Amino acid sequence: MKGLAARRRRPLATVVLLLMALVVTGAAYAVAAPTFANASTTAAGDVQRGRDLFVASCASCHGAQATGTRAAPSLVGVGAAAVDFQVSTGRMPLANTAPQAPRKPTEFTQQDVADLSAYVASLGPGPAIPEDQYLNLKTDDESLAKGAELFRVNCAMCHNVVGAGGALTRGKYAPPLEGVTPKQMYEAMVTGPQSMPVFNDANLSPTDKQDVISYLKYLEEQPSPGGFSLGSLGPVSEALFAWAFGIVVLIGAAVWLTAKSS
Ligand code: HEC
Ligand code: HEC
Repeated sequence: MKGLAARRRRPLATVVLLLMALVVTGAAYAVAAPTFANASTTAAGDVQRGRDLFVASCASCHGAQATGTRAAPSLVGVGAAAVDFQVSTGRMPLANTAPQAPRKPTEFTQQDVADLSAYVASLGPGPAIPEDQYLNLKTDDESLAKGAELFRVNCAMCHNVVGAGGALTRGKYAPPLEGVTPKQMYEAMVTGPQSMPVFNDANLSPTDKQDVISYLKYLEEQPSPGGFSLGSLGPVSEALFAWAFGIVVLIGAAVWLTAKSS
C-alpha cells in the first residue's frame, strides 16, 4: 500500500514540478518581455549618427536643419514614426518627381533608419514608433471582426474592401496593403502619408489599430486555392456559395457513408 502510494505520488510530483516551472518561466517572461520590446522599438537610435546620415542623404531636399526647402516640407515635428515609415518603405529618399513617392526597396539598414528617426524626433515632438504590444497580431474572432468593420468604415473607400488598393485623383493611388509590415501599417495610420488622412488615437485607439492590422494580416494568410477567391464579392454571396457547396459535400459524405455500411 505504502509503496503504491509513493509510486503514485511521484508522477504527480513531476506534473506539479512541471507546472511550477511553466508558471515561473511564464512570469519571468512577462516581466522581461516589456524591456525587450522597449529595447527593440526605441532601438537606441543615435541622434548624432542620424544627423550625419541626414546631411548626406536628405538635406539636399529637406534642408540642413530639416526645416524644409522649396523642394520638400519641414520635418520638424513629423516624429520618428514618419521617418521610419518613409525610409523603411523606401519612399524616402525621394528618387523622382512622380505625383506620389513609390514604395521601393530601402537602401538603409535598420540601424540607419533608427538613427535617422532618432535625429528627426529630437527636432520636435511627433508620433513615436509604435510599441511592440500593439503590433502583436490578434487571432480571436471578435478582434478580427472588429478590425474588418473598422477597415470597411475608415479605409476601404481608398484601399478596397480586401486591401487590394485603388486609384485616386490626379495620378495618385492608395497602394495595395499586402506585404506591408504591422509596424509600417501602424505608422501609416498615425502619420497619414500624402493624401491619406491621419488616424490619431482619438479616431482609432491603439487597440483599434491593432485590430485593423490583425484583420489585414489575417486576410493575407487566407489561402485562395487556384486563385479562386470569388472576387471577394462580400459576405452574403460568399456565405451562400459556402453554404451551397457545403450541402453538396455533406450529401456526398452521407451517400458515401451509407454506401459503405451496406
Ligand atoms: C529628392 C528630394 C527628397 C529627398 C532626397 C528626401 N526627401 Fe523626404 N520628402 C520629399 C518630398 C517632396 C516630400 C513630400 C511628399 C511626400 O510625402 O512624398 C517628402 C516627405 C518626407 C517625409 C514625410 C513628412 C510628413 O509630413 O509626414 C519624411 C518623414 C521624409 N520625407 C523623410 C526623408 C528622409 C529621412 C530622407 C533621407 C533619407 C528624405 N526624406 C529624402 C523629398 C525628398
Ligand atoms: C483618402 C484615402 C485613404 C484612406 C481613407 C486611407 N488611406 Fe492608406 N493610403 C492612402 C494613400 C494615398 C497612401 C500612399 C501614401 C504614399 O505613398 O505616400 C496610403 C498608404 C497606406 C499604407 C502604406 C502602404 C505601403 O505600401 O507602404 C498603409 C499601410 C495604409 N495606407 C493603411 C491604411 C489604413 C489601415 C487605413 C484606414 C484606417 C487607410 N490606409 C485609410 C490613402 C488612404
